[in-house]
Amino acid sequence: MTRCPISHQAAEFDPFSDGYQQDPPEYVRWSREQEPVFWSPKLGYWVVTRYDDIKAIFRDNLTFSPSIALEKITPTGPEANAVLASYGFALNRTLVNEDEPAHMPRRRALMDPFTPEALAHHEPMVRNLTRDYVDRFIDDGRADLVDQMLWEVPLTVALHFLGVPEEDMDTLRRYSIAHTVNTWGRPRPEQQVEVAHAVGNFWQYAGKVLDKMREDPSGPGWMQYGIRKQKELPEVVTDSYLHSMMMAGIVAAHETTANATANALKLLLQHPDAWRDLCDDPSLIPNAVEECLRHNGSIAAWRRLATKDVTIGGIDIPAGSKLLIVTSSANHDQHQFADADFFDIRRENASDQLTFGYGAHQCMGKNLARMEMQIFLDELTRRLPHMRLSAQKFTYVPNTSFRGPEHLWVEWNPAMNPERAHASAREARAVVRIGEPSSHAVSRAVIVESVTPCAERVARVKLVSADARTLPRWTPGSHIDVICGDGGNGVASRQYSLCGDPDDRYAYEIAVLLETESRGGSAWVHAHARVGAHWRIRGPRNHFRLDETARKLVLIAGGIGITPISAMARRARALGIDYEVHYSGRTRGSMALLDDLRALHGERLRTYVSDESTRNDFAALSIDADTLVYACGPSRMLDALTAASAYWPDDALKIEHFESTLATLDPSTEHAFDVELRDSGLTLHVPADQTLLTTLRRANVDVQSDCEEGLCGSCEVRVLEGEIDHRDVVLTKGERQSNQRMMACCSRAHSKKLILAL
Ligand code: FES
Repeated sequence: MTRCPISHQAAEFDPFSDGYQQDPPEYVRWSREQEPVFWSPKLGYWVVTRYDDIKAIFRDNLTFSPSIALEKITPTGPEANAVLASYGFALNRTLVNEDEPAHMPRRRALMDPFTPEALAHHEPMVRNLTRDYVDRFIDDGRADLVDQMLWEVPLTVALHFLGVPEEDMDTLRRYSIAHTVNTWGRPRPEQQVEVAHAVGNFWQYAGKVLDKMREDPSGPGWMQYGIRKQKELPEVVTDSYLHSMMMAGIVAAHETTANATANALKLLLQHPDAWRDLCDDPSLIPNAVEECLRHNGSIAAWRRLATKDVTIGGIDIPAGSKLLIVTSSANHDQHQFADADFFDIRRENASDQLTFGYGAHQCMGKNLARMEMQIFLDELTRRLPHMRLSAQKFTYVPNTSFRGPEHLWVEWNPAMNPERAHASAREARAVVRIGEPSSHAVSRAVIVESVTPCAERVARVKLVSADARTLPRWTPGSHIDVICGDGGNGVASRQYSLCGDPDDRYAYEIAVLLETESRGGSAWVHAHARVGAHWRIRGPRNHFRLDETARKLVLIAGGIGITPISAMARRARALGIDYEVHYSGRTRGSMALLDDLRALHGERLRTYVSDESTRNDFAALSIDADTLVYACGPSRMLDALTAASAYWPDDALKIEHFESTLATLDPSTEHAFDVELRDSGLTLHVPADQTLLTTLRRANVDVQSDCEEGLCGSCEVRVLEGEIDHRDVVLTKGERQSNQRMMACCSRAHSKKLILAL
């Protein structure tokens, strides 16, 4: 086999070096940018660092076997092996490293205790434990959060979840560390024997506890559930399997959460603005957890074995090759995450992170970990908002995969503890979200900087960040949600397209028409658009994205629909794309932004005014295969355009919708159907009274969502087989006909079954 030429960086790659241990994604930045798949002679592995390649590897668990996921990276010597054997150590395959066809039946048999409904029962236990631990040090002014809380609470939670009695905690802690070093690390020869004893003891302890549980398997723990399942499916859930899962479960549920939380707190305290935001607005916590898992999760990399010759990222990899897939690097891939190194707790697609893996082997305990992390952050931001990092050097247990600081020293002034002034500060305030966060929950404080009338009943409102920081970038077609009137809990919000200058990083501008039959949104905006007023917004989000590769653009606006169209026209002009703007209104006085548009677009702007008896004749537009039409306006206008588009090339017309009536679910007229999830190996039943999105979430499958009305496109899933019943307003005619994508929040099946790439 020839692997030449090997670049200098590939030759030098060493995951046990301080560089990798301190910051794995930074350490392999060169690879992500220049050589995303390379052979590491020092490790004897192929190393993969880009998001798409890694996701494709997770997706195909037949070609890329997980069988080496727990294999020791440094084989132990004969002496240590003899020690392990003396304990009867026989750690078998577990859910993490088992191949098909054995893996999926076991996963299916054992997954019910991980569903969001089942996990909700554990929330009070996690909350009480966390509080008790914070009580122990809150008056001290200084703590090592790893030693004093983050290790023991997840361990106790893991024990509760598994159904293990709370004892031998210190011993377990030692065993658990030893297990990590044994599997992922490079113990020195003289350490190996000591580690082997600890691992052997861990193995025996797990066996003893399991025997105790067998005497009475009626308890609520996952192990007792497994013992009961064994009676039903003895050849699927075997004795040795339960023993291995018991030990692996303790490590998986406990150590990864402890590390992930230590990483998250370190990251947040290193970004005091983000920490302050969470202190002020706990509704940001679920998404912040996701961004912490993305930016600095507790899993740096996983391993896979190529079972046949295969090409990854254009590089041929022979059968039998071992792969180190650096998920922490995938989480910093610019192609997947805009401004990927930037830590942004409001990042919309943070939950695309691969820290939990993906597909059939995705971490089953992900939602337990998310719940714990949310509770830790809620308790600490509420009770110790003035906490800061102490000066320290961070150290990590050397290994390729599990990652978290061994100590995390923090300090604060106990005299300033909020609960000394108000006892109520000890009460929980954040609602824990079990499952993937919704971008609906993430809001931002802004201040009204100016309000300018810009047409009859239209106010142009300029918003700046409440803390004078830059605002996230936006692209033409984006909108923000203005939260109207409820103080930030998102009860009522309205969407308004951005119409200012995308290069202005400090301000957003919207133009809002006071509707006569307003649902309250525009009336609220007009009443509260006062200079200096504090508002909350969500976004920006873009469901109406401009294709900047278009040769020609026809941009059509009716009334206040000019707001996204004006931003698109500005962009088309800047890019030098051939474009025209068609703008209709009732009277000239009612047409917002008209002077600006005229000044900027001159002859390219055509206006149609009802009371001047000029109207746009859509049928007369000549739309060829190189032209894209973007339109926003009243539904009457959009219906007429849709009718005219029957004569245009497929997919030429792109429409911005703010409302849909198609997505309402009426169980009396629906039929149930099944979905097979190819990547996860599951088949689920979608009842007539449930959306596909709800069914997926209940089965612990992560799918993003935003509007949940078929408007935004964020819940799109790929369809491999079956006939889709489209109910969204996002996909174009051609996209619907191709039958390859659907919106999980509203669309259903015409056929009895769909096969999805999930
Ligand atoms: Fe918006 Fe489904 S969540 S289309």
